[in-house]
Amino acid sequence: MEKAAERLVCVTGAGGYVASWLVKLLLSSNYNVHGTVRSPSDPKYEHLNKLEKASEKLTLFKADLLDYDSIFAAIKDCVAVFHVASPVPSSSVSDPQVQLMEPSVKGTQNVLKACSEAKVKRVIYVSSVVAVSMNPSWPDAQVKDENCWSDKEYCKRTNNWYCASKTEAEMEAFDYARRSGLDVVSVCPSLVLGPMMHSTVNSSSKVLINLLKEGYESTENKVRVIVDVRDLAAALLMVFEKPEAEGRYICTAHHIRVRELVDKLRSIYPNYNYPKKVTELAADGGNNLSSEKLQKLGWSYRPLEETLVDAVESYKMLGLLDK
Ligand SMILES: NC(=O)c1ccc[n+]([C@@H]2O[C@H](COP(=O)([O-])OP(=O)(O)OC[C@H]3O[C@@H](n4cnc5c(N)ncnc54)[C@H](OP(=O)(O)O)[C@@H]3O)[C@@H](O)[C@H]2O)c1
Repeated sequence: MEKAAERLVCVTGAGGYVASWLVKLLLSSNYNVHGTVRSPSDPKYEHLNKLEKASEKLTLFKADLLDYDSIFAAIKDCVAVFHVASPVPSSSVSDPQVQLMEPSVKGTQNVLKACSEAKVKRVIYVSSVVAVSMNPSWPDAQVKDENCWSDKEYCKRTNNWYCASKTEAEMEAFDYARRSGLDVVSVCPSLVLGPMMHSTVNSSSKVLINLLKEGYESTENKVRVIVDVRDLAAALLMVFEKPEAEGRYICTAHHIRVRELVDKLRSIYPNYNYPKKVTELAADGGNNLSSEKLQKLGWSYRPLEETLVDAVESYKMLGLLDK
């Protein structure tokens, strides 16, 4: 029998979209969870306390990524830390250094330092494909695998500050691991969709909600690279539980153009306010990403239709598609 302490893990930003599904999976897999949130009394975290086994196994800690002591208090005694918290803006921000770079990079440094001090066995850092794919020197025809890193100076020059923040934080995580010997594994998800548990709309769910209800005059026929939030949670647990997991893992399932995505949605839900026109892009090589490494570790994903239907049904239930 494992001791309870061996099944105690921490999830940063526990009330966020991705982290909520991870907490649910951890509780149902019999882990005890320390979840960090910034304001525990906020009703937006109520769904966490309603999760099965939450009353016995989930403890919420008030913590900000920029406050080392608050982070350390949540991480102390844990065997693993899933570092999920990060600002994820839906649009550009006025002060990228303060609003994005600091919480993402300095916040990750604080989490890593606390993990070393608490002798955590493994840190699972949630990065993003934006830390992989923004690399203009990578040959167009070559699949982007875990060896491809976004060029953070290019991200900054082109005002892609979220990409810069995720790239710099992930690089820092692996640098720190090399310097300290801490075991760090990262997962780089693409656009995360699927059911929502609460009505606080995060940036990726907003992409789908807007497609259903905004009735845009026109939208571009971009490639969307999608993964289900529940499959992402399973990937995060897998890279923690499998001792052989190492380095980075791209986590993506479906490549689909917006036109096909709208057609698919319309065939199931004909009555939403879809874009009136989908325009072609002049030059767009798509986003040639591969999750082969994660699949070799044993990961699999569900069909896109299931993700879309479960997402839309949850939006309906939460009243997010109302006018
Ligand atoms: N959703 C996607 O499509 C996607 C794709 C690739 C990667 N990711 C990554 O996945 C992670 C979760 O994203 P999400 O979609 O679940 O976003 P989300 O719902 O907006 O969650 C982000 C979480 O980060 C927390 N946070 C932000 N700044 C913080 C700070 N200074 N101190 C403490 N906590 C802070 C927020 O806490 P509060 O509750 O206190 O606001 C929130 O819980 C992020 O690292 C993101 O980069 C997401």
